[in-house]
Amino acid sequence: MIKQVFLLFCFVSGLTLSVSESKSASMLQPHVAEDFDVGYIQMKSEHNCSYLVMITTSCSSPKFTTDKISIAFGDDQGNQVYAPRLDDPISKTFEQCSSDSFQIDGACASPICYVYLYRSGSENGWKPESVKIFGFDAEPTTFKFNTPIPNDTWYGYNLCETPSPPSSSHQLSAQKWLICVVLGFFLSFLM
Ligand SMILES: *[C@@H]1O[C@H](CO)[C@@H](O)[C@H](O)[C@H]1NC(C)=O
Ligand SMILES: *[C@@H]1O[C@H](CO)[C@@H](O)[C@H](O)[C@H]1NC(C)=O
Repeated sequence: MIKQVFLLFCFVSGLTLSVSESKSASMLQPHVAEDFDVGYIQMKSEHNCSYLVMITTSCSSPKFTTDKISIAFGDDQGNQVYAPRLDDPISKTFEQCSSDSFQIDGACASPICYVYLYRSGSENGWKPESVKIFGFDAEPTTFKFNTPIPNDTWYGYNLCETPSPPSSSHQLSAQKWLICVVLGFFLSFLM
């Protein structure tokens, strides 16, 4: 009986671990931001910090874009930085194979763990390659996109709640499995 319960425990813990691993892996991909809203946090926070944001447009993006592009990023403490318009047809931003830099002022967010881009406009779209944010007190953070931004939706990364890097959770599950195997071995002698 004990043996069955024990095996069940091993099975379930293995299962929950692989579920949480695949969840954190999907958070490492850019995705549509459900329920994301700029505004409320934005209005109540001070604009005391300055950031340099470098956005590289992919070489497979359309030659140029006339779309409205916004960005929002921040930390897990509710400090959010928002720039409603980055695009500028006059200075030809976001052309294919180019990099654009912006100075953006906003709340003091550190470390930056999420970034979302918003695009609204044509069917041609726009495909950023990466977004690099130089924080006011930290090493620059780079978010790889390499994917077209869908129309009229916030799209990007939220790494704020990723529990632990994949490598350590693999170690953890390997340790658990080892313990299960060793204990199972002794149990099979006892019964
Ligand atoms: C932001 O700056 C204002 C005025 O410059 C200051 O009164 C306020 O305390 C600052 N806030 C933070 C969070 O540093
Ligand atoms: C993109 O979204 C905007 C805002 O909802 C809309 O006006 C526009 O027609 C959309 N563009 C396309 C190509 O669907």
